[in-house]
Amino acid sequence: MEVQEIKVDSLDAKSFIKEKISEIAGIVGNGSAINALSGGVDSSAVTMLGHRALGERLKTLFVDNGIMRHGEPQRVVSLFGELGVPVEIVDAKEQFFDALKGVTDPEEKREAITRVFYKEIFGELVKKSEAKYLLQGTNYTDVEETVAGIKRQHNILEQLGIDTQKQYGYKVIEPLVQLRKSGVREVAKALGLPEELYSRPPFPGPALAARVIGEVTPGRIEIVREATRIVEEELSNTGAFQYLAILHQDKVTGIKEGKRDYGLQIEVRCWESKDAKEGSPTRLPYDVLEKLAARITNEIAGVISVTYNITKKPPSTIEAI
Ligand code: XMP
Repeated sequence: MEVQEIKVDSLDAKSFIKEKISEIAGIVGNGSAINALSGGVDSSAVTMLGHRALGERLKTLFVDNGIMRHGEPQRVVSLFGELGVPVEIVDAKEQFFDALKGVTDPEEKREAITRVFYKEIFGELVKKSEAKYLLQGTNYTDVEETVAGIKRQHNILEQLGIDTQKQYGYKVIEPLVQLRKSGVREVAKALGLPEELYSRPPFPGPALAARVIGEVTPGRIEIVREATRIVEEELSNTGAFQYLAILHQDKVTGIKEGKRDYGLQIEVRCWESKDAKEGSPTRLPYDVLEKLAARITNEIAGVISVTYNITKKPPSTIEAI
């Protein structure tokens, strides 16, 4: 692998930022660049670096795929707005839900999301913008996993020998490619991004679709979105690595106002982990668990059962799909 890793211990975030800003400015020259912001730490750091290097010559898009958390697109865009960085929201909800219609297989769901994002939405917007440069938040772990064949990260092109300039007419710039996530967090902090962005718990690329077992529909996303909001409100002070809610496919029998009910199940997971490679469930106090069960069943119509996952990773994974 040609990319030289910069370990977090030897990273000088301030000089790294200076170097990358002048590198980006040098490559793009008088041209323009485009990037997609998701609100994750990688794309947030890249957006800020690009903005510092290029100002208005960077066009930043937030693709609203309809499967983000409660108020997330607006929140992220307003945080960047406060920092003077304009971000345009692209409403692509319909295209994503169309592609997910009837899809229940986990890998097919992931594939559909990646395909819609790159081929139907972002790829087209890049073409229309006539930008000759695409800024991407690829990090060292992405490259390593792709080159090793563990999983093909969608943002890896050049490391696989794909010449984007020849094939697509634009060049990819990856300013974070030498850093792992911990280094990216340092850079994001030094760039003046708010803590809400630089110390965010991990969130998967397929967003809430990774937390719906079975078909992903707008209605089922809304249920898992509400459950996620409650779980995040109740568990954000635990210091856990990641916490999430999953909507199950099977219904279970329950009782409502003295009568038989048949309703949905939400599974809660809360993880202790260093790097997501292994994990153990957090030993949450029982009253916290009881409060979660009460809030989720009271506040979300149709949900009558809440479970807490007590499995380690492995054999479980952190997400459900
Ligand atoms: P798993 O479920 O594989 O997750 O134990 C490990 C970590 O990776 C996150 N994750 C993803 N992140 N795209 C991502 O960008 C994905 O498709 C994806 N799947 C899982 C997960 O949230 C956890 O932190």
